[in-house]
Amino acid sequence: MPDFWQFSSPTKVMFGKGLSIDFAVELEALGITSALLISDANLGKSGLLKPVADSIRENGIKVIGPFTDVPANSSLSAVKACADFAVKNNADGIIALGGGSVLDTAKAANILISHGGDLAKDYSGAQTIPGPLKPLIAIPTTAGTGSEVTQAAVILDTERGTKLSFYDQYLHPSIAILDPLLLKDIPPSLMAATGWDAFTHAIEAYTSLQSNPFSDELALPAVRLIKEAFIPAVTEPKNLDAKGQMLLAATLAGIAFDQAMVGVVHAMAHACGGLSRAHHGTLNFILLPHGMEYNMPVALEKYATLAKVLHVNPKLKKKKKLAHLSVKVIRKWQKKLHKVCNLPLKLRDVGIARDNLGLIAKKACEDGTSFYNPREVEETEILKTLERAW
Ligand SMILES: [Fe+2]
Repeated sequence: MPDFWQFSSPTKVMFGKGLSIDFAVELEALGITSALLISDANLGKSGLLKPVADSIRENGIKVIGPFTDVPANSSLSAVKACADFAVKNNADGIIALGGGSVLDTAKAANILISHGGDLAKDYSGAQTIPGPLKPLIAIPTTAGTGSEVTQAAVILDTERGTKLSFYDQYLHPSIAILDPLLLKDIPPSLMAATGWDAFTHAIEAYTSLQSNPFSDELALPAVRLIKEAFIPAVTEPKNLDAKGQMLLAATLAGIAFDQAMVGVVHAMAHACGGLSRAHHGTLNFILLPHGMEYNMPVALEKYATLAKVLHVNPKLKKKKKLAHLSVKVIRKWQKKLHKVCNLPLKLRDVGIARDNLGLIAKKACEDGTSFYNPREVEETEILKTLERAW
């Protein structure tokens, strides 16, 4: 246990089937009179937004938008357009309904709506926001990023091919609404990629240098839920109980890594994502076992505990063996998910050129998440790891 640690998770979490069309009373309590609704084009077409907007209007609250011009990997220009739209229409609160990109766009736009300025120049990095933001309700439609409860947002700087991180206590959403019904029609491959992101959050939070007893007690139960619900949530589209468990797991893992941070898998995924535009969860899917093997020399004890949670072999006692088995089990899950929904197993399959691995290794070492990895993130060794993943 570290000598000093602290824990704070200010987001109110609400869970319930159908809750996404029954939460307007919460907006009143937050003093919202004109709510900007942010989502993406696919969700705009899906018919999910109308009942949400209708239920808000029925409670006498003006709905601005929906603003749906949010790309899969949100960009600085999308954030600016969203913020300009909100300011022009005098929004005094935000409702973000979507996956990680939508939620992160809403969080980043909220900085500009509340304080103005230039997102990349004035706010990139940690603890850069001068004061509280407008109230924000985050409604995830994937069980993955945990952005609904974190103080982080990641936005692509398209010009520089770099993912910018924003990390500040004021970025915590006011409320997270977890509604399993929103995952009813999620494609299995997206369920798998986003669920893997949550899985990676839980594992990296658990082994992070900044992990603490509170974050551990969220990370391991998240892994336990994922072990039970992940495969059914992907292979049984109508299994809303499994999807609800995955939502809960993603939120638990989100709170865990919000406090403990993540590590080398995310450092490599961010560096790859800046160049290839591949889905963040898919990159974590490819990189997780490689990152775990990189950390094996220093994380043996924790991986052995993880193996017990994954229930690899309850009779086995030897820590070294257990630790290695945890990675083996994860590789088995990978193969299964690759078979079921064709998630790629290699970096070469997501548009990463071998010539770029050196640059990716360099960027991974510079990524903020590297500093929390239990083993020093060293460029030559990371390059070897990336070669193996390629
Ligand atoms: Fe992630």
